[in-house]
Amino acid sequence: MKKVRRVGIITAGGDSPGLNAAIRAAGKALLGMGIEVLGFRDGFQGLIEDRAVPMDRHALSGILTIGGTVLGTSRIKPHKVDVGGVVHDLTDAIVSNCARHGLDALICIGGGGTHKNALRLARKGLHIVTLPKTIDNDIAGTDATIGFDTALGIATDAIDRLHSTAHSHHRIVVVEIMGHRAGWLALGAGIAGGADVILIPEIPYDVRAVATAIGRRREQGTNFSIVAVAEGARSKTDAAALAAAVKLRQSARTDREKAKARAKLVALEAAHAGNTIRLAKELEELTHLEARVTILGYVQRGGTPSAGDRLLATRLGTACAQFIRDGKFGVMVAARGDGVAAVPIGDVADHLKTVPANHPWIQTARCVGTCLGD
Ligand code: F6P
Repeated sequence: MKKVRRVGIITAGGDSPGLNAAIRAAGKALLGMGIEVLGFRDGFQGLIEDRAVPMDRHALSGILTIGGTVLGTSRIKPHKVDVGGVVHDLTDAIVSNCARHGLDALICIGGGGTHKNALRLARKGLHIVTLPKTIDNDIAGTDATIGFDTALGIATDAIDRLHSTAHSHHRIVVVEIMGHRAGWLALGAGIAGGADVILIPEIPYDVRAVATAIGRRREQGTNFSIVAVAEGARSKTDAAALAAAVKLRQSARTDREKAKARAKLVALEAAHAGNTIRLAKELEELTHLEARVTILGYVQRGGTPSAGDRLLATRLGTACAQFIRDGKFGVMVAARGDGVAAVPIGDVADHLKTVPANHPWIQTARCVGTCLGD
């Protein structure tokens, strides 16, 4: 086996707390093994444009507690880069930049999109190891993702604070929590914060069932309610329309059919924007209680990582260095119990981890009387 001498590292996709802790852990462990580390700015963009920065002891020092990523990030797809209105596949530019720098391996820290990009590069012969990060916790094959614990704390704290104002004004407060396709964050924060209603993408809701639950609380003498809604939660009608459009896209054969199906999906996404505000209005009409909306947005991704995320990032980052030293490539370093596991990147890319209908968190929420909108 060829001795590893130099390794590249990027952070890609949406930022999340704990990225710097992961960079630091992998970097320090690699330096300790006598392996040089080179960072690239702004994810795959910096790899294409060859914007490299040396990650020596000085660069890795003092970043453990800092939010965001010192390397910067971007959401580009290297196989589909718009250059002056023309789409180019620039994956070969990445391969040749890695060769020019003499990189023996590349660490990609990211979420779903990053794993798809990493798989394409691995198929071109790059030695890649990935680390799972996203506040959405929706990466397959790992028990946990870097950033989720911090976001969970932030969203729970927000629900705590919303309780006192909802209670004082006898209002419904609808709080929108991140998670387009998976409801882990809304469900976790909803349970931890004691939300009365939790709506997630995995369980299409009926607004009348939500209004009935709020009405029941009122009959029992409680005139306020907290509704935690994931940004991707949909009513039963909207979820059925989306499922039909997805089916249409899957069965589309001709370019015309594909374009039509894509346009339908784009239109449905556009119509979904503002769903939380619509939901609050509908609840006002059905319950005759005043409703207010709070959209937590990017606050959930910002700031200092929690102790849990620092610990997770440090565990996964140091294990990543060991994988590289041992020549274990083409894998994601997954959290598995107290340890780690090597999961083939192909088993992660395109495999979203959603909340299963029988997940213990769902049962827990139901057991304390939380309405899940169904
Ligand atoms: O970090 C994941 C995520 O927060 C999703 O829940 C959210 O929909 C998305 O990123 C939005 O991020 P951006 O605006 O950076 O694309």
